Amino acid sequence: MDDKKRLILVNRTHSIPSDWSDHLRLVSFQYKEELFFLEQETYNAFEGLRKKMLENRLILGVASAYRSSEEQKKLYEEMARDYGPEKAKTLCALPGHSEHETGLAVDIEMAMEASETQEELNYPSGYFYRCVHEHLSEYGFILRYPEGKEQITEYSFEPWHIRYVGNPHATIIMKQNLALEEYLEEQKQFLQI
Ligand code: DAL
Ligand code: ZN
Repeated sequence: MDDKKRLILVNRTHSIPSDWSDHLRLVSFQYKEELFFLEQETYNAFEGLRKKMLENRLILGVASAYRSSEEQKKLYEEMARDYGPEKAKTLCALPGHSEHETGLAVDIEMAMEASETQEELNYPSGYFYRCVHEHLSEYGFILRYPEGKEQITEYSFEPWHIRYVGNPHATIIMKQNLALEEYLEEQKQFLQI
């Protein structure tokens, strides 16, 4: 995969290029009896991150990975039914506009390996997210919908949604606390994308 693909911008105003799936190499993997798919390079990076987390006895799991346009449509319709269309739009992308359709995004879930102390069992989910956020960029991932950037990303803060962009991009984005939109705007003149 080249930087043009790694840095693809998919948001409310940028839909997935129509030829995206022509060159998409998806890898399948299993987590908790369920089959998931991710773009190959993204999968390898995710495996690196997962192993790193295990060193800290944290199990990095997957709630959602690649989604087809049909799956995204179904998800959006469920959200719209449960929360109404206005609220649903801040939580879920319309089909053709979700990073999950690129194969480069993962919704993570976290658990602690057999805990020894009650204190560990009571850690709030924010603690687990902070642990993984600290290591995202080492493996080429960013937090795609950061807290405080809702005006730019047009989505609520999502501590679980991570996006592969590769390095050095991930390191710069996370260090400078940027939304992907801000980074791409800054880099427009330097990047051949
Ligand atoms: N929740 C994110 C925005 C998505 O549906 O792709
Ligand atoms: Zn997501």
